[in-house]
Amino acid sequence: MEARNIDVKSEISCQHLYKSFPGMDGNVTEVLKDVNLSVAKNEFLVILGPGQCGKTTLLNIMAGLDSSDSGEILLNDVPVSGPNPNLGLVFQRMALMPWKTVMGNVSMGLKFRGVSKKEREEKARYFINLVGLSGFEKSYPYQLSGGMKQRVGIARAYCSDPEVLLMDEPFGALDAQTRYMMEEEILRIWEKAKRTVVFVTNNIEEAIYLGDRIVLLSRCPATVKAVYPIDLARPRQFTDSRFLEVRQKIADNTDLAL
Ligand SMILES: Nc1ncnc2c1ncn2[C@@H]1O[C@H](COP(=O)(O)OP(=O)(O)O)[C@@H](O)[C@H]1O
Ligand SMILES: [Mg+2]
Repeated sequence: MEARNIDVKSEISCQHLYKSFPGMDGNVTEVLKDVNLSVAKNEFLVILGPGQCGKTTLLNIMAGLDSSDSGEILLNDVPVSGPNPNLGLVFQRMALMPWKTVMGNVSMGLKFRGVSKKEREEKARYFINLVGLSGFEKSYPYQLSGGMKQRVGIARAYCSDPEVLLMDEPFGALDAQTRYMMEEEILRIWEKAKRTVVFVTNNIEEAIYLGDRIVLLSRCPATVKAVYPIDLARPRQFTDSRFLEVRQKIADNTDLAL
């Protein structure tokens, strides 16, 4: 993998973001209210907030897929003004191309960028292997389980070699068992191929299991309520007393069941 500039401190940041949506009744719903956060290079940052608080809205704006009413997103000090190849996205239900194989889906982004077939396949194979799907290169999405589809989505996001990976509740649609497995897996993948990750969840255990830091959002309109550095060694145990202490501390700071 190519070397990157290592003296960047904050790789991506949100500065004073505001966003409202007009409703059908003529009222506006304020969804983001002065959201400020910054993510360091190679940090695994988790954004934790209750359902409907504005997490997806925030991530879409960070991804350049939607615009804020005011404020800005800076990627290495440069404003993000639209979709950007340096931002890779992973969603709750990955929209895989049903007519393309795993190889086709993972290497898709590189094709658009004019990378040769040989190079695309080489790179895609590396990430297919990294997410544990070697041997499934020729399979189609309908032949894969939910967890496997999410792995394809993760490999696809990595394959375009973005600086920052934005993940919106990527395991939210999985059954509990598969979800635990994927939480372990995403850390294993991240340890092997370090990237800056912004991971959105409404699950407090998932947040503490994964994050270097947790940004806790308030109920809608979302604003940053608190930031928690999680200095527990990995792999973390849900039943560890320090894990439970952190859980209690965060839970005490929110009025909603997370
Ligand atoms: N395009 C939109 N138009 C109008 N309202 C929206 C739109 N997108 C989101 N909202 C509203 O913004 C609020 C936050 O939504 P969302 O960002 O999806 O929350 P979360 O991802 O935290 O569940 C919700 O009340 C939702 O109805
Ligand atoms: Mg959402």
